[in-house]
Amino acid sequence: MNLFLKNISQLVTVAARGKTAKTGADMRDLGILTDAGVLCRDGKIAWAGPMREWKETLPPDVAELDAGGMTVLPGFVDSHTHAMFAGSREKEFALRSEGATYQQIAEQGGGILSTIGHVRAAGKKALKRQTVRYMNAMMQSGTTTVEIKSGYGLDMDSEIKMLEAIVELRSEELMGVVPTFLGAHAVPPEYSGRTGEYVALLVDTMIPYVGRKKLARFCDVFCEKGYFDLAEAERVLNAARTWGMALKVHADELTPMGGAELAARLGAVSADHLERVSPRGIAAMKEAGVVAGILPGVSFFLNHGYAPARALIDAGVPLAIASDFNPGSCMSYSMPMMMTIACTQMHMTPEEAITAATLNGAAALGLSAGIGSIEAGKSADLIVAGIPDYRFLAYHFGANHVRTVIKNGTILEF
Ligand code: NIG
Ligand code: FE
Repeated sequence: MNLFLKNISQLVTVAARGKTAKTGADMRDLGILTDAGVLCRDGKIAWAGPMREWKETLPPDVAELDAGGMTVLPGFVDSHTHAMFAGSREKEFALRSEGATYQQIAEQGGGILSTIGHVRAAGKKALKRQTVRYMNAMMQSGTTTVEIKSGYGLDMDSEIKMLEAIVELRSEELMGVVPTFLGAHAVPPEYSGRTGEYVALLVDTMIPYVGRKKLARFCDVFCEKGYFDLAEAERVLNAARTWGMALKVHADELTPMGGAELAARLGAVSADHLERVSPRGIAAMKEAGVVAGILPGVSFFLNHGYAPARALIDAGVPLAIASDFNPGSCMSYSMPMMMTIACTQMHMTPEEAITAATLNGAAALGLSAGIGSIEAGKSADLIVAGIPDYRFLAYHFGANHVRTVIKNGTILEF
């Protein structure tokens, strides 16, 4: 369908002007146009500019949408989620409210391992059904592209079940879906105390299968004390690279392990979490052009301290914000909520938060040539928000301002 959005009060283009991501002071440049229009044709943006420069008469096959009083932005790119899971962990949430920590709960058999039990028992159809429900809700809050990780199966059959389900959703759903293999999310109970043997299973059996069947664009590892150390993470990531997967790392979340340095050394696309990243890690990421995937919702939900977003941005590291939506460490997929936390707790500006949730999120998935900003030639992925100014997104928090979402030129109204 072809569509002309007209009379937009504020058009936040986040124009990249050929760059793959924005860094430093450029993150504050949102390329805002007032009284603007956007023409979407065949799922792509054909034109975006001020109304006064629009001279053509619209052909009859173009629907018009009057966005007077509205703010239009690029759809959010949620570049780090565990949105496919079964069961829920509200009991752990309650325990944490009384002082238990995420690690204590994990050591007592809760945490990731409890979700694994539910996912192993679930059928592919049920997994897909629950994930679609969440994806629809994500879209209603403005997310148009989502990365979804496996990692709650941790045996061959269950990991493949998850990845096949994610890949099927990619073709069945309107939302953009990027599958990531996270077989190295935890050591499954049957390999307890035999991490090396589990790593061998990943490297020798699971990764070759995932690679051969092209079930994942990325491979990720939870590099953390009690999970996978640097050497184990490196073995997994090197194997994934030989099978054509791009790399991501859950780095320096709870323990400063040097996960960021590892990501830089291996040429990972992103290193995520980074609550405990060191100055050396920041310098290495800058040098290697690794995107920092910051997850404000996790720090908020687990109350375990925030990643040094200011230091990362000021050092020139391209920074993305994602939700990390999962039943344990962040039971929220609201990108505007993540932006509010980034502004209030991490001293990011509203402009930086928007860039981090759109263009730089796309960069964290290697997709910024096609999505993440409102520029001619990119996918028509847009949010129409009922707010007079883009700052309301983060400022007026806990409310959903999204009125209409456009994905590949298709309109979804809520
Ligand atoms: O990114 N840190 C490791 N993995 C997830 C948490 C998953 C869970 O608790 O179920 C995360 O925070
Ligand atoms: Fe995560």
